[in-house]
Amino acid sequence: MSLDARTQGLLLQFLLSCFVFLSSIEEGSAGITSSFIRSEWPSVDIPLENEAFAVPKGYNAPQQVHITQGDYEGKAVLISWVTADEPGSNKVQYGKSENKYQYTAEGRMTNYTFYKYKSGYIHHCLIEGLEYSTKYYYRIGSGDSSREFWFETPPKVEPDASYKFGIIGDLGQTYNSLSTLEHYMQSEAQTVLFVGDLSYADRYQYNDVGLRWDTWGRFVERSAAYQPWIWCAGNHEIDYFPYMGEVVPFRSYLYRYPTPYLASKSSSPMWYAIRRASAHIIVLSSYSPFVKYTPQWVWLKEELERVDREKTPWLIVLMHAPIYSSNEAHYMEGESIRAAFESWFLHYKVDLVFAGHVHAYERSYRFSNVNYNITSGNRYPVADKSAPVYITVGDGGNQEGLAARFIDPQPEYSAFREASYGHSTLEIQNRTHAFYHWNRNDDGKKVPTDSFVLRNQYWGSNGRRRKLKKHYLRSVVDGTAK
Ligand SMILES: *[C@@H]1O[C@H](CO)[C@@H](O)[C@H](O)[C@H]1NC(C)=O
Ligand SMILES: *[C@@H]1O[C@H](CO)[C@@H](O)[C@H](O)[C@H]1NC(C)=O
Ligand SMILES: *[C@@H]1O[C@H](CO)[C@@H](O)[C@H](O)[C@H]1NC(C)=O
Ligand SMILES: [Fe+2]
Repeated sequence: MSLDARTQGLLLQFLLSCFVFLSSIEEGSAGITSSFIRSEWPSVDIPLENEAFAVPKGYNAPQQVHITQGDYEGKAVLISWVTADEPGSNKVQYGKSENKYQYTAEGRMTNYTFYKYKSGYIHHCLIEGLEYSTKYYYRIGSGDSSREFWFETPPKVEPDASYKFGIIGDLGQTYNSLSTLEHYMQSEAQTVLFVGDLSYADRYQYNDVGLRWDTWGRFVERSAAYQPWIWCAGNHEIDYFPYMGEVVPFRSYLYRYPTPYLASKSSSPMWYAIRRASAHIIVLSSYSPFVKYTPQWVWLKEELERVDREKTPWLIVLMHAPIYSSNEAHYMEGESIRAAFESWFLHYKVDLVFAGHVHAYERSYRFSNVNYNITSGNRYPVADKSAPVYITVGDGGNQEGLAARFIDPQPEYSAFREASYGHSTLEIQNRTHAFYHWNRNDDGKKVPTDSFVLRNQYWGSNGRRRKLKKHYLRSVVDGTAK
């Protein structure tokens, strides 16, 4: 039996298209642009007098209480708060049982003026030498106006320590911000990795800029007083207002939200690193110099050398402007930092890069664009097993609203994208596995939407897995396995 040429041609085409279809599933390269359309709540800031910003009762009561990691390893906590009426005490009393405060630490006070706004008295107190995996209670303020909080220290830095991080970006202080924050607090995550653009106070003018930093401090206290928020700066942290006579970028957030940068040998609070449980977290500044020879470049080069994947298998980078984003908003603003650092991310096998800035959600496949150079013309990102997964979570819910327009067609590197509000969680199980979730804020309801199982870039590779198995079997034989 013989088929005519035309039928043969069609058959061949059919077989070929089946092959292409199957292989694209294998590579997982068919990205999804979510069809979810949010019935937009107005993205307006909550009014000043709303209870979300309530000032705690009592004369000079501490307000805007928040904590962050205070050292490199997770055995210190930096506690910050503001008093409005007078400087008051710089002391923190703390201990391991409620109402029993065995220890006292003394902090320092700072304040600033911005235009005619005078900040309250801003206190920072470092408490050190804490035990791992321990709940501590702390008290600040004095007499009837004192307030009590608690936090839990992370487990010791070791490769199989499990830990749950939350990732929030571009939060602001709208009703959407409030519901995102409430959803995050239901997640039972233990530490927030905040990818920049905190309060959006810089959208205001004159004295209102400072006032909106104060409301934001009271707004996030419900979470930030009880667990560390790891701060990364965004463009809304620049505070540059020539028309108000503020002609030097001011960075008022640094008075309020200090970071433990000296512990990682950094020269600036805007870029630094911490180790927490089984993760090494590197915080970069998209709005500070990062080209070759600048302090941030030199520091990052050295910090990447200090990463010890035998102790901290998970290598996570935070920055504000995303490198791989296919949203029309802020298109290619991350390209210069990509050119500076992407080859290092591949070489050191970074697991995840979280960014904000674009007010939508997007997750990439493992892709790289290091082949691109200005003479080769190889300008398309390619699948690359050494590359991190890039995740944009600039969807906290601030007053600028959503970035709803994605570029069509969806580029190959883009795995999932959706223009709505939400937050992410990263649940590290052990050195090889982590579970990742993005939770859409669906008109006020929390809906798990995008998720995947992450294999560690260092321990997940076949060679090391085999080595790990052998090691594990040997310890079973030795009777040393738990
Ligand atoms: C800061 O506080 C001190 C002590 O109360 C006060 O003398 C000073 O004027 C304040 N400075 C600013 C910039 O508000
Ligand atoms: C530029 O890219 C081409 C093609 O990938 C490569 O052969 C060449 O070595 C690159 N040039 C430099 C200076 O790295
Ligand atoms: C790591 O966690 C994953 C997911 O919970 C589990 O399947 C795997 O067996 C764990 N590996 C080890 C070595 O415990
Ligand atoms: Fe931004």
